[in-house]
Amino acid sequence: MPALSTALSAAGVAVLALAASSANAAKAPATLEHVIAFGDSYSDNGNTFKVTGYPAAPYFNGRYSNGPTWAELVANATVGNSNFTDVAYGGAYASKAALSPPQNLTAGEFDPPDLTQQLQYYLGNHTKYPHPRTTLYTLFAGGNDYVNPFQAGNKPDANKVAGAIVSFVQALHESPLNATDFLILDMFDFADLPVVRQAAAQAGNATGTTILAGATALSNGHNQVLAAGFAGLTTKTPALKIRLVDFYSLAKASSTNFKNGTSPCVTLAPNATASATYRSTDPKNVIACQDPDSYWYWDDQHPTAAGHKMIADLALKTLADPSAIINGTDGSRNKTSPTGGDTGKNGTQGAGHSGSKSAASTQAYVFGSGAAVLAAVVTAFFAL
Ligand SMILES: *[C@@H]1O[C@H](CO)[C@@H](O)[C@H](O)[C@H]1NC(C)=O
Ligand SMILES: *[C@@H]1O[C@H](CO)[C@@H](O)[C@H](O)[C@H]1NC(C)=O
Ligand SMILES: *[C@@H]1O[C@H](CO)[C@@H](O)[C@H](O)[C@H]1NC(C)=O
Ligand SMILES: *[C@@H]1O[C@H](CO)[C@@H](O)[C@H](O)[C@H]1NC(C)=O
Ligand SMILES: *[C@@H]1O[C@H](CO)[C@@H](O)[C@H](O)[C@H]1NC(C)=O
Ligand SMILES: *[C@@H]1O[C@H](CO)[C@@H](O)[C@H](O)[C@H]1NC(C)=O
Ligand SMILES: *[C@@H]1O[C@H](CO)[C@@H](O)[C@H](O)[C@H]1NC(C)=O
Ligand SMILES: *[C@@H]1O[C@H](CO)[C@@H](O)[C@H](O)[C@H]1NC(C)=O
Ligand SMILES: *[C@@H]1O[C@H](CO)[C@@H](O)[C@H](O)[C@H]1NC(C)=O
Ligand SMILES: *[C@@H]1O[C@H](CO)[C@@H](O)[C@H](O)[C@H]1NC(C)=O
Ligand SMILES: *[C@@H]1O[C@H](CO)[C@@H](O)[C@H](O)[C@H]1NC(C)=O
Repeated sequence: MPALSTALSAAGVAVLALAASSANAAKAPATLEHVIAFGDSYSDNGNTFKVTGYPAAPYFNGRYSNGPTWAELVANATVGNSNFTDVAYGGAYASKAALSPPQNLTAGEFDPPDLTQQLQYYLGNHTKYPHPRTTLYTLFAGGNDYVNPFQAGNKPDANKVAGAIVSFVQALHESPLNATDFLILDMFDFADLPVVRQAAAQAGNATGTTILAGATALSNGHNQVLAAGFAGLTTKTPALKIRLVDFYSLAKASSTNFKNGTSPCVTLAPNATASATYRSTDPKNVIACQDPDSYWYWDDQHPTAAGHKMIADLALKTLADPSAIINGTDGSRNKTSPTGGDTGKNGTQGAGHSGSKSAASTQAYVFGSGAAVLAAVVTAFFAL
């Protein structure tokens, strides 16, 4: 892990004072002092658990994994746990408003706050906001926006979901937070998630192939819209430092980086009730494998603690790499290579998932005819 001051000066924070200033720009302190995380189960440190009691053990203290999440690890490595604020909720959508038609909860079900509501919570619970020049905002969201609609047989739209994430970054940049520094994960390939592979396998070969191709197209579309949207934002506002972490390539290299890069560590107990899910309130429902550190997947939708550690390492590497900051001026961005693995090892931009040159089109990236079948099989991503 880079030392705090090294990481920060390397990340260009000190340079911020020289950057073209927006109305809100102020003097740049030399160091990072605060990390604030928004998002879903990939960043949640127990917020959903505090309300619902799930996911219970063997999940770790309310995390959707067997250890701390990447956002916690990034905070720990830079500002320490006491200067970390985690506003992420397992099960959260990037945007409920972007869902069409809206998802309807059953009575009594917990309704996790989406990004906009998380921001409202944050603002409502604090009277003083940290100085933007000393604050890093981490963000990962979107998975639930794609999968939950399938259950109802609807087609998610990457333009809307990724567009909502871009709009959220802009909202954080506006008053009262005036955020300038962002560390954001792009989307992994949904086709690799165990829950999607299981659904594809059960759907038979032809439909299964369509489901997997649709999942990949959706992830690529998401990442193209993010890259183009952030390039657009930084063109308008050069003071914004948006770093997009190449999570896609890291997740692709799971079988290189882990002995078991494809299957979940946890399994449902043989005698678990028929309606049991991995992420329940009953610890008796789930059995963990003996060697979680050799697995990339903790359950059918989330990385292990060892996986989160690897995500955090890549995120910190990206934070320390000034050339990873999205530059809307020339529309380019150098990718920080994932740790290990052969994907992106030589810094090559993989087709379709990175680089702001692949501009967002108005095309909707959606699942094809396999969606209804997937909907019938998939029970939930990222939570619930
Ligand atoms: C934590 O935040 C306080 C201000 O709220 C700051 O004085 C302190 O230096 C920060 N700690 C670290 C390790 O950044
Ligand atoms: C946080 O960092 C401290 C020291 O840097 C380390 O001892 C501790 O294990 C870390 N905690 C986590 C959860 O990584
Ligand atoms: C939710 O309820 C509204 C209004 O009853 C309905 O139009 C919509 O189709 C429902 N959405 C889903 C996903 O079932
Ligand atoms: C403060 O946060 C809690 C969740 O931790 C939320 O329920 C509450 O609405 C927030 N308060 C305000 C005023 O937004
Ligand atoms: C953000 O900018 C507004 C003025 O546009 C200012 O009132 C507010 O205090 C700033 N917030 C922070 C956290 O610096
Ligand atoms: C379909 O069959 C081919 C050839 O056996 C195989 O490579 C592929 O993985 C199968 N696809 C699915 C989704 O089952
Ligand atoms: C991964 O783990 C699963 C479940 O424990 C097992 O069935 C599978 O064979 C393992 N794969 C490898 C490559 O070790
Ligand atoms: C399943 O069996 C184990 C061992 O007998 C027991 O400890 C556990 O409570 C049972 N699980 C459920 C959900 O009843
Ligand atoms: C990307 O990396 C190359 C080679 O290291 C360098 O010449 C180029 O200036 C970099 N581009 C950006 C946008 O940082
Ligand atoms: C962005 O790219 C332009 C053109 O290549 C270059 O002049 C400028 O210095 C770059 N800005 C940053 C912050 O790297
Ligand atoms: C580097 O990228 C090129 C271009 O895509 C590819 O053909 C080559 O196999 C890569 N080399 C390594 C060592 O990964």
